[in-house]
Amino acid sequence: MAGSAALAADGQALFKQHCAVCHQETATGTVGLAPSLQGEHWQRLGAERAYLPTVMLKGLAGMIKVGGQPFVGSMPPFAPQLGDEDLAAIATHLRGLQGAKEAKPYAADEFTALRGAPGDPARSRALRKQILGE
Ligand code: HEC
Repeated sequence: MAGSAALAADGQALFKQHCAVCHQETATGTVGLAPSLQGEHWQRLGAERAYLPTVMLKGLAGMIKVGGQPFVGSMPPFAPQLGDEDLAAIATHLRGLQGAKEAKPYAADEFTALRGAPGDPARSRALRKQILGE
């Protein structure tokens, strides 16, 4: 299948399959379980191109506040479960749900590069803090 553009991963279907159980199909989140993946703060998080792939590959843990609500759960790392092509398709779909339709689509090689780099849920949390200052 590798290299077949005709079989391009379907980001919407993959998001529904792997992310919606916690974040909902519309990425608006689930009270008390998983945060909305939309909102003002995504202008800054989204501008830091590596943030979204980092969280998807390495996970995220540590309290965060979104829309005034605290979340203390943990976001599972998807590196063991999904390939870079699928992850890139999901990320591009999610950026669309965030209203960033003009943003450059994510490419599989952006995930490949980060996959090999060090990271874990706590480091993702530190990166979020670096970007948002909270
Ligand atoms: C088992 C539930 C669960 C699943 C499945 C899940 N997430 Fe999460 N996600 C979470 C939780 C919980 C957090 C918040 C973690 C924290 O409090 O530090 C989170 C956080 C995030 C964040 C960071 C949000 C922010 O404001 O910084 C992103 C991005 C994200 N998830 C994307 C995804 C994507 C994309 C998928 C599918 C590939 C996915 N999640 C699947 C539970 C989940």
